[in-house]
Amino acid sequence: MSKIGWKIIMVMVLWSSCTYDHFNDIVNVCAHSSLSLTFSVVDASTCAAGDGSISISTKGGVKSYTFSVNGGTYQADSIYSNLKSGSYTLSVKDANGCTTTQIASVNNGQSSLRISAVTTANSGCPTPNGTITISTTGAKDPIQYKLNSGTYQSSNIFDGLKAGNYSITVIDSTGCPTSGSASVASNGPSFKTDVSPIISTNCSSCHSQNQTPNLSSYSTISASGELVVGAINSDMPPGGKLTAQQIALITCWVNNGAPNN
Ligand code: HEC
Repeated sequence: MSKIGWKIIMVMVLWSSCTYDHFNDIVNVCAHSSLSLTFSVVDASTCAAGDGSISISTKGGVKSYTFSVNGGTYQADSIYSNLKSGSYTLSVKDANGCTTTQIASVNNGQSSLRISAVTTANSGCPTPNGTITISTTGAKDPIQYKLNSGTYQSSNIFDGLKAGNYSITVIDSTGCPTSGSASVASNGPSFKTDVSPIISTNCSSCHSQNQTPNLSSYSTISASGELVVGAINSDMPPGGKLTAQQIALITCWVNNGAPNN
């Protein structure tokens, strides 16, 4: 082959391995990012008034930060004003493109309704079984409860929940809702005792060195979580599928945020 031909092949090999590693690095950076957010709230004066505000502070990650509320466009301003009482989902993105999210509640000075919640962790696999039980003070019957943008129900107990942050809204006969948030922990499959043994028995012979994705350590397996779930539901391992129970364990672990547990 001509010299030029070899050079073109060399450039293609370098280019493809380089873009793959770059992608993998970003996923890894975010899996181990220290980015977190806190917020302070000024409540609205009445049920209908739009005079509440939220200001967001950021820790960790890499400057500069941008902010989004309720899934809106990311922008530089960290203070949101003219808010009615309710729940707001706050997100921060750093210069690496890593994000973190929390739910803030703006109350109002008119309603005496206050809420609190007790949760149990999700340990169900494949069917989630986390719960949230809501208590109220100062509410006038009838009372109704909802999670996120769901519909109101008369029971104060929600079950079958995945791990994650939920916003809670409670409305009583005064028609003035109060909101809060609750976090369902994950008590699902363990990386060490469930996931790691399945991967090392069925995948590591091929995926520990040159075959991408690398599946030889917690950090590489967690960074490729979504890819792994796709692969075990289609053509991996090549010799025949994992058992339904093994597929469920890995899928639940990834859905729970691939914790190092
Ligand atoms: C016998 C060797 C072998 C074993 C064992 C094996 N793989 Fe693979 N894997 C490959 C090869 C070769 C490819 C690339 C070609 C392809 O996608 O079929 C691949 C590709 C993949 C990909 C990338 C697919 C994509 O869409 O980019 C993932 C993810 C994956 N394997 C996960 C696994 C998991 C998880 C296991 C264990 C449950 C496993 N593999 C077991 C050889 C293997």
